[in-house]
Amino acid sequence: MPERNVLVTGAASGLGLAIAEAFAEQGGYRLLLTDLEDSSLPQVAKRLDATWHAADLSRPDDCDRLIDAALEQLGTIDILINNAGLQRVSPIESLDDADWDRLIAVMLSAPFRLTRGVWPSMKTRGWGRIINMASIHALVASPHKAAYVAAKHGLLGLTRTAALEGGEHGITVNALCPAYVRTPLVENQIADQARIQGLPEEEVVERIMLAPSAVRRLIEPKEVAALALYLCSDAAASISGAALPIDGAWTAR
Ligand SMILES: NC(=O)c1ccc[n+]([C@@H]2O[C@H](COP(=O)([O-])OP(=O)(O)OC[C@H]3O[C@@H](n4cnc5c(N)ncnc54)[C@H](O)[C@@H]3O)[C@@H](O)[C@H]2O)c1
Repeated sequence: MPERNVLVTGAASGLGLAIAEAFAEQGGYRLLLTDLEDSSLPQVAKRLDATWHAADLSRPDDCDRLIDAALEQLGTIDILINNAGLQRVSPIESLDDADWDRLIAVMLSAPFRLTRGVWPSMKTRGWGRIINMASIHALVASPHKAAYVAAKHGLLGLTRTAALEGGEHGITVNALCPAYVRTPLVENQIADQARIQGLPEEEVVERIMLAPSAVRRLIEPKEVAALALYLCSDAAASISGAALPIDGAWTAR
């Protein structure tokens, strides 16, 4: 397999970091990592022998600059991992405009802009892989997560449309749909849920987070990274437009 160029967003933490590590461990990939300016991106990139470019993906201009930098540094992007994300836990009546706009910008508009940006180079090469980090919340809803659920449902729509357009060009586009994975994003949610539900934090994981799941433990980031790596292999060339749950049967009910 030729060396592939990979762009991973949200690569300084959690799932993005685990995916970047998985590509680095596997070998045969050139990595460009991106995250917010004030993240540990430079240290992560150094450790993984990757290049990096800081960007705030809530800003359209930063998305465009990221694509320009990626194409300048690597020539082409063969694999795009749209992973950056954030969560706000709030009832709709107190969800403010700024939070709504930011979640939609980072988790829906940025994946669209980056997809549009990498598309010509994937099309020219006749090969591409786009993996969108969705969530079980692309498939089902939970209360107090309106912006997150809306962004992830939208991301699944983008995934399916891009998959239809990419087929004839050798580009596959898929959405990963994990339930709760042990990352900083989830650790913060445990505290938020404890406050909203008036429960001790230790009870939040068992009684709320894992309640709908048949496999009663938090998912490890490596489990999700392994599936991302598989989707980028030639063996997965016919998997496209899929919403792949990694959810311990959460959405089986
Ligand atoms: N952890 C879970 O349980 C879980 C489950 C399903 C889906 N997801 C999704 O996985 C993705 C990664 O989440 P995680 O759990 O690893 O969270 P995380 O907080 O550990 O990592 C998210 C990364 O995204 C970056 N980011 C946030 N806003 C950004 C912005 N404006 N511009 C650029 N980068 C930005 C953060 O700096 C951070 O490094 C998210 O899209 C999340 O919705 C997570």
